[in-house]
Amino acid sequence: MTQVESPSRVRPLDELDIGSIVKIDERITGIYRPEVWEERAGYYLRRDPDASQVVEIGGKVVGFMLGDIRIGEFGLEEPSGWIERFGIDPDFRGRDLGKRMFEAMSAHFRAQGVTTLRTLVDRQDAGVAGFLGALGFESSRLQALEMRLPTATS
Ligand SMILES: CC(C)(COP(=O)(O)OP(=O)(O)OC[C@H]1O[C@@H](n2cnc3c(N)ncnc32)[C@H](O)[C@@H]1OP(=O)(O)O)[C@@H](O)C(=O)NCCC(=O)NCCS
Repeated sequence: MTQVESPSRVRPLDELDIGSIVKIDERITGIYRPEVWEERAGYYLRRDPDASQVVEIGGKVVGFMLGDIRIGEFGLEEPSGWIERFGIDPDFRGRDLGKRMFEAMSAHFRAQGVTTLRTLVDRQDAGVAGFLGALGFESSRLQALEMRLPTATS
């Protein structure tokens, strides 16, 4: 008997999805951190409720992608669509679900006048870097810089 694949649906993030994001993140990282996702998902819902996306299979949320539009940050006057955090339940990868959420976010950004998408990636994370490269992200003229602050001594 052939197995019938449950239908998938990409839709904007909802406040009720936070519990599902916590579970997906725990499956990916092994860390249970509900307060982190309450804060992060709440931030993006307040910023732009239609930008961030989730994907459901058979009614169950199996992936999320969070981001927003920023103007004027770091001297970038053009509206930029930022893709910040995303994850697909390991059991549901390789089915274009990440790509479909990205396309839904891109369509929203384009409708809002965005011409450039931006993100940051740890180059050592080959999985995420490979995914972003497959979507079309390239190295940027902008460079991420950082420095460690010395610990305060009394
Ligand atoms: C990266 C990730 C989102 C990809 O999701 P996915 O649904 O399996 O990806 P898709 O099936 O939509 O793949 C889209 C494209 O990316 C490519 N791709 C996906 N994963 C890749 C990888 N690890 N390396 C290279 N390319 C990859 C696919 O081949 C596909 O390319 P194509 O369009 O040319 O065929 C998923 O693997 C993931 O959640 N990784 C962990 C992310 C993480 O650490 N999150 C922490 C919490 S924020």
